[in-house]
Amino acid sequence: MSQILREARRYEELNEKKIGQEERPRFHLSARVGWMNDPNGFSYYNGSYHMFYQYHPYNSYWGPMHWGHAVSGDLLHWEYLPAALAPDQAYDAAGCFSGSAVTLPDGRQLLMYTGVRREEVGGETRDIQTQCLAVGDGTDYEKYEANPVLCEKDLPEGNSRFDFRDPKMWQAGNGSYRCVVGNCAGERDGQVLLFGSEDGFHWSFLKVLAANNGRFGKAWECPDFFALDGKQVLLVSPMDMLPQGLEYHNGNGTLCLIGNYDEKEETFTEESDQAVDYGIDFYAPQTILTPDGRRVMIGWMQNWDTCNLHSPERPWFGQMSLPRELSIENGRLIQRPVRELEALHGERVAFKNVVFSGVKELEGVAGRCVDMEVVVRPVDESNPFRKFSVWFAQDEICHTAVSFRPGESIVKLDRKFSGTRRAVIHQRRSRVNSQNGEIKLRIILDICSVEVFVNDGEHVLSATMYTDPSAEGISFLCDGIAAMDVVKYTLCAR
Ligand code: FRU
Repeated sequence: MSQILREARRYEELNEKKIGQEERPRFHLSARVGWMNDPNGFSYYNGSYHMFYQYHPYNSYWGPMHWGHAVSGDLLHWEYLPAALAPDQAYDAAGCFSGSAVTLPDGRQLLMYTGVRREEVGGETRDIQTQCLAVGDGTDYEKYEANPVLCEKDLPEGNSRFDFRDPKMWQAGNGSYRCVVGNCAGERDGQVLLFGSEDGFHWSFLKVLAANNGRFGKAWECPDFFALDGKQVLLVSPMDMLPQGLEYHNGNGTLCLIGNYDEKEETFTEESDQAVDYGIDFYAPQTILTPDGRRVMIGWMQNWDTCNLHSPERPWFGQMSLPRELSIENGRLIQRPVRELEALHGERVAFKNVVFSGVKELEGVAGRCVDMEVVVRPVDESNPFRKFSVWFAQDEICHTAVSFRPGESIVKLDRKFSGTRRAVIHQRRSRVNSQNGEIKLRIILDICSVEVFVNDGEHVLSATMYTDPSAEGISFLCDGIAAMDVVKYTLCAR
């Protein structure tokens, strides 16, 4: 093991002890110490779920990337393992960027990641990105002696070696391996490249699987490609997006392309596109197929444009989203919290047909670890309410709100009163489906985050909120008259 990795392991073990459990989310994976971004190497290996992540242990800001590591039996309770990779070779000295994992026929786990090195190019310092391998046993990994396995010479003419990252591997039906990698053609125009390998170690370029052609942002990062409900899905995270109505927002976002895959020709034909998350904090997701056949996705629940605003005193920064079960229904990507979450259900309180106007509080409805479903409808359809809101993480000063306006069929998430003092984006809106002014909201809180699943996962809005954990109030507000059903569980993680 290199000195650099040994030091990282020692540092995280010592410093993790200084972080109180009450400061962390309970069932979302957060950085063991320091900084976390993208999920990496999400896999099921030797009877556990493994999650690696982009990791800078030494402070709570992005820095030379390591891979942090955690395991779980249920995707919700995570146990940290020692850091898996450190930037300790000439070809990855500037960072071990995002990548993925597969199990080899001999039972070892193979990681593929982007090795970044810095070089002078035309008088400028540039990051050169190549794809590299490491092999291990679920705790310790050794980098492959023939790294990098994919580099500039494997790229088609004119494609960028500065934006060539985030390999996502899988094993094809015939036992061979495939991976998709984010890349750019021409003027930082995103594309996804497909590579193939017989043994997981020797790789070659197959084709351009999908090309942006100027439609969605610039460089494309973190692709994932899988079959789902008779269709094929390409997830990709474009940088520098321009907004398109309420579908896509400015900055970095995650795009879902749904289409068909001709396995023989290995061609992907797009049919439709949609955003994956309509909230503030969600990026770079990865999926796995669970042993019982579910496609489960976890994203980084932060946002590149707002992730540097915290105090340097913070001992950790960065958390993952809830694991979400994916399906395609009526041509749309649907996301539901993993069913394992139900095992965390504690105290239940339920209210049926509460008719109210103004402000309403309900006995037993409060808390910061909560799974709450609210169905709201107008009492008089010819005179519907104008706006319905749920406030949570509430005290005298703070609250975060989810609101619904049936007239516009829009759900809004708003954290501007969450205690933040920064003038950055605090609101996002999503156009949703509602019939006769009725809507179903499943709101999941975990200390410093909210994820809202609208109408059983048709639209999802996620955001972090760093409100003091003592702000536990939940209340309901209505401009007009509404009737609501509320079922609320306290979530109890170990
Ligand atoms: C996406 C990303 C990846 C890269 C990693 C670096 O959030 O920019 O493309 O591998 O983060 O930490």
